[in-house]
Amino acid sequence: MTDSSFHYSSDSKGAELLCENVRLSSLAEEYGTPLYVYSQKSILDNYAAFCDALSKADGKGHYISYAVKANSNPEILRQLSSAGAGADVVSGGEMLAALKYGFAPSKITFDGPGKTDAEIMLALEKDIFAFNVESLEEIKVISSFASQLGKTAKIFIRVNPDVDAKSHPYISTGLRENKFGVSLAEAHDVFREASRQPNIKLIGLHVHIGSQITELSPFIKAAESTVKFIAEIKAEGIELEYLNFGGGQGIQYHNVVQHPLLVPDAQDEKKKDIPSHAQFISSALPVLTKSGLKLIFEPGRAIVANAGVLLTRVLYRKENSSKTFIIADAGMSDLIRPSLYGAHHQIAPLVLQTAEHEVADLVGPICESGDFLAQHRSMNKFVRGDGLALLTAGAYGFVLASNYNTR
Ligand code: LLP
Repeated sequence: MTDSSFHYSSDSKGAELLCENVRLSSLAEEYGTPLYVYSQKSILDNYAAFCDALSKADGKGHYISYAVKANSNPEILRQLSSAGAGADVVSGGEMLAALKYGFAPSKITFDGPGKTDAEIMLALEKDIFAFNVESLEEIKVISSFASQLGKTAKIFIRVNPDVDAKSHPYISTGLRENKFGVSLAEAHDVFREASRQPNIKLIGLHVHIGSQITELSPFIKAAESTVKFIAEIKAEGIELEYLNFGGGQGIQYHNVVQHPLLVPDAQDEKKKDIPSHAQFISSALPVLTKSGLKLIFEPGRAIVANAGVLLTRVLYRKENSSKTFIIADAGMSDLIRPSLYGAHHQIAPLVLQTAEHEVADLVGPICESGDFLAQHRSMNKFVRGDGLALLTAGAYGFVLASNYNTR
């Protein structure tokens, strides 16, 4: 993994959490909390790490397509489009945002199991690069709209290789029981039928087995069965041009920032060494390049997660006979990942002055017991008015925020 842009200043009186060289406490004062802050440097470094790894593949036309769902902040889209990334979108809204913030239509792919008629028409009118389709019925619908407009829609068919991504069940997508793609057993028929549809050009195969994958083996397994399938359909006369191998590369959420005064995260030993962005790509390349196709990867989390933090301020402390609660001004309506997936985000005081610590729950202002940012966590001691950052919140943070409680 590339180095984090977040670190503590080295000051003898205490330490300030910095983003690149900016004091996060000054941003919290200037803009108020809750506040998401992103490091441009981390985003561009992460993107560059993927590009470098992919540049080792033989042949031309391979590229990295950013999964916009991870964070569709306009400035992040502008940065990544200027850097040359493609965009993988899953709704008309994401498509319009990608176009508005600089992605060429020829670099936009449209994904997702439930594309509406209006979204399909929009994609055809905007001449985006391709649709990643999920079923024969969807292909037929796209074919009929393309015929009406006198256009040819380029498609990838998403295949579900039945591989366990060993991630959280809500974000594993490559098992037979998941709603995504067509199974390898059905895929022969679907590819054959698709290549006969009017106004459809079948150009590729798409696979995405899940998110926050922390081991290489599921990728390699999925790559092997995909490449075998591509050889089989080639023998039947179906020639493809592209293989889109999805996203899903996992990242480290624990102990991202360290300092002698900062309470470290307790961490599962097995999850300490998550492969780097480059390792994820280079482990799959020897298999994927056997397909002879142009390769696309569509990472989201691995590009933006470690580039973002959520700043919040402590409103109150509350202790009862069994627990200490730290009540902050950010909650599940700002960052739902802890409540939804039991996700871990490291807690870092904006100003570190002592190593005094306690075990507490960090909770938000929402009227639900499920509104927590951390439970039973050993953390630095906070009092009313203290600022803190939830780290690694750049992916699936702001985009999953809601206005619940009409906040
Ligand atoms: N491609 C497809 C088809 C996807 O469905 C996804 C993510 C990606 C690419 C990007 O995956 P990534 O590189 O970010 O892992 N809200 C969850 C994550 C949901 C992922 C959905 N699909 C979370 O907060 O962990």
